[in-house]
Amino acid sequence: MTSSATPPLAAAAAVAGPVRDFADAVESRTLHVGVVGLGYVGLPLVGALEAAGFTVTGFDVDTTKVAALERGENYLEHLGDELFATLAASDRFAATSDAGDLAPCDAIVICVPTPLGAHHEPDLSYVLGTARTLNGVLRPGQLVVLESTTYPGTTRDELTPVLVEGTGLVPGRDVFVAYSPEREDPGRDADTRTIPKLVGGLDPVSGALAAAMYRAAVASVVEVESAEIAEAAKLLENVFRAVNIALVNEMKLVLDALGIDVWKVVEAAATKPFGFMPFYPGPGLGGHCIPIDPFYLTWKAREVGQPTQFIELAGLVNTAMPRYVVDRLIRALNDRGRAARGSRVLLIGLAYKAGVSDTRESPSFELIELLRERGVEVDYHDPHVPIAPRVRRHDVGLASVELTADLVASYDAVLIATAHPDVDYELLASASRLIVDTRNAMAAHAAALGERLVKA
Ligand SMILES: NC(=O)c1ccc[n+]([C@@H]2O[C@H](COP(=O)([O-])OP(=O)(O)OC[C@H]3O[C@@H](n4cnc5c(N)ncnc54)[C@H](O)[C@@H]3O)[C@@H](O)[C@H]2O)c1
Repeated sequence: MTSSATPPLAAAAAVAGPVRDFADAVESRTLHVGVVGLGYVGLPLVGALEAAGFTVTGFDVDTTKVAALERGENYLEHLGDELFATLAASDRFAATSDAGDLAPCDAIVICVPTPLGAHHEPDLSYVLGTARTLNGVLRPGQLVVLESTTYPGTTRDELTPVLVEGTGLVPGRDVFVAYSPEREDPGRDADTRTIPKLVGGLDPVSGALAAAMYRAAVASVVEVESAEIAEAAKLLENVFRAVNIALVNEMKLVLDALGIDVWKVVEAAATKPFGFMPFYPGPGLGGHCIPIDPFYLTWKAREVGQPTQFIELAGLVNTAMPRYVVDRLIRALNDRGRAARGSRVLLIGLAYKAGVSDTRESPSFELIELLRERGVEVDYHDPHVPIAPRVRRHDVGLASVELTADLVASYDAVLIATAHPDVDYELLASASRLIVDTRNAMAAHAAALGERLVKA
């Protein structure tokens, strides 16, 4: 492994022709980069590449995104309006839905979705569709980098054959292919530019070219030996999170039964300066990564006859959490002489995590459906999600309600699923009849709430 201190183009400089041209273009900032997929991952990358001085073409099949970018309209709230204004005003950025506009690019980075199919199998259709599109514009000297999360071997064995099919171009000689995972975690301070970037090529020159490009745009680049190492590292990171979240969720069930506050236990354990890293319980897993990516590894492991018991167990524990939370809520209502059927619950937070508007795989949808199955009437409040979008498995048909003391007091219970920072917790504490809190959001009001607070 080499760090960002490595001479950037050491490997590439030894190769003449198109590679030298690529290296020169990085250094003179005349490099033209195409980014395919202008979503959560692609758009911040566009911002970083444009800010580095490169010319950037953003390509997306979604024409509404292209039109929004042209008008400088924000469609990903957490990125802030400034990025959209900057890109709309920049003469080094253009958004397009015409794949032909990618032809002049020296490098093309792929940031398209990698979801799961109906049977939890990897769905590479977006990646392979993009490979077919790029096949039509590929030319000697071009670099293609895959950023979408996927199982080891995808870049070499799935993407590249489609990319070069029928072109006569030889990977590692005429065109260059690498993998570089995105590690962004929307809502955190760290972003595309500050999080160290792993880069692994199909061959050393491909890796070096990709590393050189990223070094111009992000603070720290870590070159690894191969695309497979970079692919597997990304999955290890996300499996690590899924497993540790499951562990603390299981701890919550045990500690709840023992009458011990799991949040205080995690806080106490986290004072150990080594060998422990705090993870926090919640109502279930959400987002486009942690509930999905581990199953890419499970699928690949099956191919080589290896079990992935940790991943499967973590999946079982985490997917059981919404049901636990709903049972806890119904028990709390029952303790107060209220039957579930006919009672009214206000859910706080439809997005899967605090401070963002992303509702993909959010357990809040599952909570709403489970409560409705039990005859509970549910509304929600989320300052980031004014209208509940239709998501993969749910269409709840709700809009966010405004928080007022009278409204809050009219519900039998408030269920906190996501602890957005911009929710009026003071108001909830004073007006709620009962709060079921899955995020420890009411810790500061615990004394005032007394019996009206249930942690779940
Ligand atoms: N969201 C995150 O925080 C995050 C973090 C790390 C990695 N990832 C990974 O990055 C990849 C992209 O995720 P995302 O969250 O940015 O998804 P996204 O849905 O926000 O964006 C993907 C974009 O690709 C576009 N697209 C789909 N097919 C296309 C095609 N054939 N050609 C051009 N554009 C196409 C879509 O219209 C969309 O705008 C996934 O593999 C994901 O697992 C996501």
